[in-house]
Amino acid sequence: MDASRQLQRLTSGFQVTQAVHVAAALRLSDLLAEGPKTAAELAELTSSDQVALGRLLRALTALGLYEAADGRYQNTSLGDALRTDAPQSIAGWARYIGQGSQWQAYGALEHSVRTGETAFSSVHGESLWSYRDKHPAERELFDAAMVAISKTQADAIAAAYDFGRFPTVVDVGGGRGLLLGTILARYSSVEGVLFDQPAVVAEAVVGCRVVGGSFFEAVPEGSLHLLKSVLHDWADAEAIAILRSVRRAMPSDGRLLILEQLLDQAPDPLRTAFTDLNMLVMTGGLERTTDEYRTLLAGADLELTQTIPTSSDMFVLEATPA
Ligand SMILES: C[S@@+](CC[C@H](N)C(=O)[O-])C[C@H]1O[C@@H](n2cnc3c(N)ncnc32)[C@H](O)[C@@H]1O
Repeated sequence: MDASRQLQRLTSGFQVTQAVHVAAALRLSDLLAEGPKTAAELAELTSSDQVALGRLLRALTALGLYEAADGRYQNTSLGDALRTDAPQSIAGWARYIGQGSQWQAYGALEHSVRTGETAFSSVHGESLWSYRDKHPAERELFDAAMVAISKTQADAIAAAYDFGRFPTVVDVGGGRGLLLGTILARYSSVEGVLFDQPAVVAEAVVGCRVVGGSFFEAVPEGSLHLLKSVLHDWADAEAIAILRSVRRAMPSDGRLLILEQLLDQAPDPLRTAFTDLNMLVMTGGLERTTDEYRTLLAGADLELTQTIPTSSDMFVLEATPA
């Protein structure tokens, strides 16, 4: 394909995002998992316009999500990954990323690039976090999307580090507890504590102690603390404040594991570069290099002791009190 056509395809990425988003919102893959269906049947089941839905199905078929035979559509393996019951379902993420608040924020990427400001806050007049507090349905969508996206990472992290040495593992900003649940299932002697905002831990999917609060104030004590996909949400000053809260809750021989992608060691540089852009637009955070994490840790009297790759895109950065 020549360069112009290739570039033209890249500029159509926004259409692909929306097409997959609508497929997820209408739960087309779930409906097709029950058996092949015509556009008319799907339109009836989703209360959609038959002709318009047929046009969307044609586009999704060209993208490889569905295949058509005798006027009936069925899932391909790509389409199956959009089923809500798929082992690592992308349905939640597709629904979240294509809906109003996220979509509008990404439309202001140019503003972020010109000013360095967080597009989400400029567009919505408040941070992603306070916006989510006021829009529980969106928070629900995001938390569920994180659970689905975190599944592969959680298995890889639990296998990459010996969590069994620690009596108490505290997952700080642990969401609904998918990672902690994966660790507790693998290391039966470990006691877990899930810590996140009260509204988030209220929906915990793990059976262990749960504590609601803010990591800018205090976090529960334990022998091992985890921060997965938390520091990348924040600029340096806030990230150091979070690390200081964790440091105060650590014994002198305690360990902290930062679980993040690394810009300097990314197995999939495209994904990590775009996660970083996502942080620019949505939260004001950033992806970092190993050295940048080392510097952040030093700002909270912590020292980087090991960097361990996992079979996912996440790395385990182990730290101890300096
Ligand atoms: C990107 S999510 C990561 C969730 C989880 N660790 C994972 O990897 O799936 C960031 C988490 O930080 C939590 N969070 C944001 N502000 C917080 C605060 N002030 N105190 C505690 N948790 C907070 C959010 O509720 C969210 O669950």
